[in-house]
Amino acid sequence: MTTAANSPIVIAHRGASGYLPEHTLAAKALAHAMGADYLEQDVVLTRDGVPIVLHDIHLESTTDVAARFPDRARQDGRYYAIDFSIAEIRTLRAHERTGPDGNAAFPNRFPLGPGLLTVPTLAEEIDFISGLDHSRGRKTGLYIELKAPNFHLREGQDIARRVLEVLVEKGYDQRRDQVFLQCFDDATLRYLRNTLQTPLPLIQLIADSNWGEDSAVDYDFLQTAAGLDAVAGYADGIGPWLMQIYRGKRADGSVELSDLVALAQERGLQVHPYTFRADQLPEGIESFEELLDIFLHQAGVDGLFTDFPDLASNYLLQHPDNRTSP
Ligand code: G3P
Ligand code: CA
Repeated sequence: MTTAANSPIVIAHRGASGYLPEHTLAAKALAHAMGADYLEQDVVLTRDGVPIVLHDIHLESTTDVAARFPDRARQDGRYYAIDFSIAEIRTLRAHERTGPDGNAAFPNRFPLGPGLLTVPTLAEEIDFISGLDHSRGRKTGLYIELKAPNFHLREGQDIARRVLEVLVEKGYDQRRDQVFLQCFDDATLRYLRNTLQTPLPLIQLIADSNWGEDSAVDYDFLQTAAGLDAVAGYADGIGPWLMQIYRGKRADGSVELSDLVALAQERGLQVHPYTFRADQLPEGIESFEELLDIFLHQAGVDGLFTDFPDLASNYLLQHPDNRTSP
């Protein structure tokens, strides 16, 4: 990687998604130019088993699927990516994320139009990043999340196996220094490690237990010493929600941190929390710089997911981490 050894890594969350629609190749190109160390791919499968780069198992929040295929929603009114072939997915236009009311989820970000962007396959995105690495003379990592593996199994698809097949095809299946695999489901990570025997570093994502993630894992337990002992048996790090580390501010204004970072690092686990957004600061935080300072210099995390990779990269340049090599 281009960062100094042991310096925290900047992971572009869904690309430079603070500036361009998430998971479009344009957002990945911008993040690459901004100096991100890793570019994130959330992955789901199409009906014909092709891994595509899309955050939701549904299509309507980030594409024009409802206009192009109005009669293809399921009874719940949702358009599932797994009901569409890759040929159909290629006809869609990607746009900035909308909320349930159809309005932009982040009104100050890129406009909902003009419909110039598409949904890439994982293979296409790897080729694209590899090309940028070549033309820009740097090495940028992939940080791939397997979305809703149990949903895919219920639909008759093995997302872990399909993602590994693409990595083999692209020559990335052994690149320990350039690929992370992440998942909220512990059983899928164990399957990747023990059955599929990938040598790639694995990250156990930790959700809030109330979010209704597609997994039976007890996320409260995973944050305990015993839970992290178990994680260390199959994974290389954790990806916690940032509020599982930052607990708020005390009456005197001092920052309250959990012991999650220390507990994880004591067990040799890297800690890469999500999601750092300059336009959505946690309560009590005055600026994005303050947020970065708390996590990078007080909590001592090993990297972070951010929609604004330029701000995080610049912050690290201006405030070198004390773990950074001279
Ligand atoms: O994968 C880390 C972070 O991206 C998890 O949250 O919902 O943005 O995929 P989400
Ligand atoms: Ca993700």
